[in-house]
Amino acid sequence: MGGPGAAGAPWSSGVRRRADGEVEVAGVPVSELAAAHGTPAYVLDEADFRARARAYRTAFESAFAEVGAGVDVYYAGKALLTVAVARWATQEGLRVDTASGGELAVALRAGVPGAAIGLHGNNKSDAEILAALDAGVGRLIVDSLVEIERVADLAASRGVVAPVMVRVTTGVHAGGHEYISTAHEDQKFGLSVNAGPDGGTSPALAALEAVVARPELDLLGIHSHIGSQILEPSGFEAAARVVLQLRADLATRTGVLVEEVDLGGGYGIAYLPGEEPLEPAPVAVSVAQAVASVARELGTPLPRFSIEPGRAVVGPAGLTLYTVGTVKPVTVSAPAEDPGAGATFTRLYVSVDGGMSDNIRPALYGADYHAEVVGRASAAGTVLARVVGKHCESGDVVVHEVMLPADVRAGDLLAVPATGAYGRSMASNYNGLTRPPVVAVADGASRVLVRRETLEDLLGLDLG
Ligand code: LLP
Repeated sequence: MGGPGAAGAPWSSGVRRRADGEVEVAGVPVSELAAAHGTPAYVLDEADFRARARAYRTAFESAFAEVGAGVDVYYAGKALLTVAVARWATQEGLRVDTASGGELAVALRAGVPGAAIGLHGNNKSDAEILAALDAGVGRLIVDSLVEIERVADLAASRGVVAPVMVRVTTGVHAGGHEYISTAHEDQKFGLSVNAGPDGGTSPALAALEAVVARPELDLLGIHSHIGSQILEPSGFEAAARVVLQLRADLATRTGVLVEEVDLGGGYGIAYLPGEEPLEPAPVAVSVAQAVASVARELGTPLPRFSIEPGRAVVGPAGLTLYTVGTVKPVTVSAPAEDPGAGATFTRLYVSVDGGMSDNIRPALYGADYHAEVVGRASAAGTVLARVVGKHCESGDVVVHEVMLPADVRAGDLLAVPATGAYGRSMASNYNGLTRPPVVAVADGASRVLVRRETLEDLLGLDLG
């Protein structure tokens, strides 16, 4: 059984288990991290984040250079955005994709140039649109006909021309849970490329034409995000086909050939030992080749291409460090559908000092994670365990099923890998828990990027 680092994924590249059994991250032992910053804590391996950001940029740059097209990689800040993280992404040559005025404010505070920022959202407020226009963002991704008119009117009020992309739904679904797959028709995002029941112009084409009709808008291109945690490239290829066809149709109807195509994020990662992540180089090559061959078939010049990976850049770079509290064996009967139906077995419930407030993904999506005792070696055998949080809710599960040392006990440090994406960014104060800090580790030193919330922070919001 490999400990952290022995098998690489799902641990970040800086994770090692030392000969004495303690794990370190980028040279810092977990006991030091816990002593300095407390638990629970989100721990980010900076070099790992930077390497993944670079890997995505260079893989797509070289695959698209091969077919003669340019490419931009936007880091999807919704996965995790702090001032330092936005700077790392920018220093590695990525742009920053934001999903709200709040994320936009973080990117701007980090000094990301407006031109390198995109703003998404299916229901942007006027204030968010104006903040984006005032910051000179490189692109607003518009999501409805009403929004097109609003952005044009607000741009007119500021005397500027707004650079926009239109978000479309291609009918291609890919990736994980229904809640995180976003390109099928029956959902709130984007405009469909399919004609309505009357067989007329598709909503996507109508929206593109509406943008062309407004001089306050500069139509940059077409955007489509097909889903999340996608583990093979065919969905991206299929979406590229549909988007390029739409681009050609628009050119035929209006004479406008848009320059850019964005296929969003969704690149999948390993959450469990043995899982194969989607590697950037092969997916970049297959998408670049699909784009090139479809553009050739359609007789249109190649677009400038962009992607928006979030999870694949920050997910594996992060782990959550917890302290074990109550450990409780529970006798369980195997369910009727199991081969050993009726037999009883023991599941060890291992409670940690966080839970669904720092990682909602197991409860929300049924997501599976791995965990290990990281503060020490254990000579004990392993037992079937379930890692649970400290919330007043039985669905408060951190790891549904994992083998842990039979002697796991209160005070042990336990780490859950691959929590860098959508952990802190979806954290809550449920049950009055304070959100954990984000601690970066690099070259044997740790630094707090976002401090732990305090009870004063919570009470300060409550005006009585
Ligand atoms: N671009 C757009 C337009 C998106 O909607 C998303 C994700 C991304 C990029 C980044 O996707 P990524 O590469 O990180 O998969 N909370 C869910 C994920 C929701 C993602 C929604 N959109 C989760 O925890 O799995």
